[in-house]
Amino acid sequence: MRVDVISIFPDYLAPLELSLIGKARRDGRIDLRVHDLRDFARDRHRTVDDTPYGGGAGMVMKPQPWSEALQHVAGSGADGARPRLVVPGPGGMPFTQAMARELAQEPWLAFACGRYEGIDERVYEYAADDLGLEVSVVSLGDYVLNGGEVAVLAMVEAVARLLPGVIGNAESLVEESHEDGLLEYPVYTKPAAWESAPGRTREVPPVLLSGDHHAIAAWRHQQRLDRTARRRPDLLHGSQAGARLGDFDVAVATAADAPEILTLSRACWVTEAQANESLVIPPLVETIEDTVAGIGQWTTWTVRGAGRLVGSVRGRVAPDDPTLWQIGRLMVAPDLQGRGLGRALLAHAEAAAPPGTAAYWLNTGVRSDRNLRIYRKAGYRVRAGEGSFPGTVDLTKPRR
Ligand code: ADE
Repeated sequence: MRVDVISIFPDYLAPLELSLIGKARRDGRIDLRVHDLRDFARDRHRTVDDTPYGGGAGMVMKPQPWSEALQHVAGSGADGARPRLVVPGPGGMPFTQAMARELAQEPWLAFACGRYEGIDERVYEYAADDLGLEVSVVSLGDYVLNGGEVAVLAMVEAVARLLPGVIGNAESLVEESHEDGLLEYPVYTKPAAWESAPGRTREVPPVLLSGDHHAIAAWRHQQRLDRTARRRPDLLHGSQAGARLGDFDVAVATAADAPEILTLSRACWVTEAQANESLVIPPLVETIEDTVAGIGQWTTWTVRGAGRLVGSVRGRVAPDDPTLWQIGRLMVAPDLQGRGLGRALLAHAEAAAPPGTAAYWLNTGVRSDRNLRIYRKAGYRVRAGEGSFPGTVDLTKPRR
């Protein structure tokens, strides 16, 4: 990826020579070029600002140095290529992990660091209209910095670490805060018993020493839910977790949702029992304890309309394959089936798959013709042979 940064303080960007980003530059994975805006000023004093029309405090960045700097950068690509222009500013769209992923797909980013009261508004119009750039104003958060440079350091780091080969262990990207709408679980290292003060020993949670990978995964998932509920309840009820599907609210389930999920599962899987002539189907026979445990081991979403639970789905990284995202327990209340809600829920669960996912996985009854039709239409194909459970088939779909 090529990255250009225009700033009146080029030295501010020096930290990008350090650590993994510095290594990525030396390895040729990132071509980072920093430009001094003052080199494009025309006067002896290399002036880049002036007083604001209409009065008010502070100074405004002049259009001329910016237009020439942007023209210089935008015109330096091969074959008419153009960068996507990102202008950091407190009045921009919030910078999120989703935006970092989006920017990581771009071959070329240019950052324009404003200072003072901001850049003359006509520069944004010029960049879009005359240079043909896609311009995004992006804010690091709801506070005011002195300029865009600190924001660029943060954004370049968040984007660059998503590029192939920048982080040695791609799996370490999987279970991080904000990748799937939940905060990360707490981590521990040796010693297992640490004497933090004379006579005061702090232990690592015993489950982490148990060697039981399923128990560890369940404990970690529960920690993520608890931590998110405590520190960032807005994530559970807002943003990705709290998306709207038509008239319905989607939220990440907690143990408190288990009784309703169990009841809806029973209602939804009766037709499966009829189609497959078997009552021994997990959603029909599991106990409330099993449902609670499932919520601990998977990310489960609930769909509610006017408070009523009308649908649910769950997803998790396959315990034995970190590239496979398993989706299960897709259910829609019988009276609301056939309206596309199931398809939308499936798409929601797919969208929650962490980076590093190569394929989605589903399982359904051999004779569940309706489900099989829906899944085929959504791009899933049946895997040869028996499914993961007797009387079932597994289906997979590559992630595009
Ligand atoms: N420049 C000044 N404040 C900023 C913020 N909050 N985010 C991005 N750039 C900024």
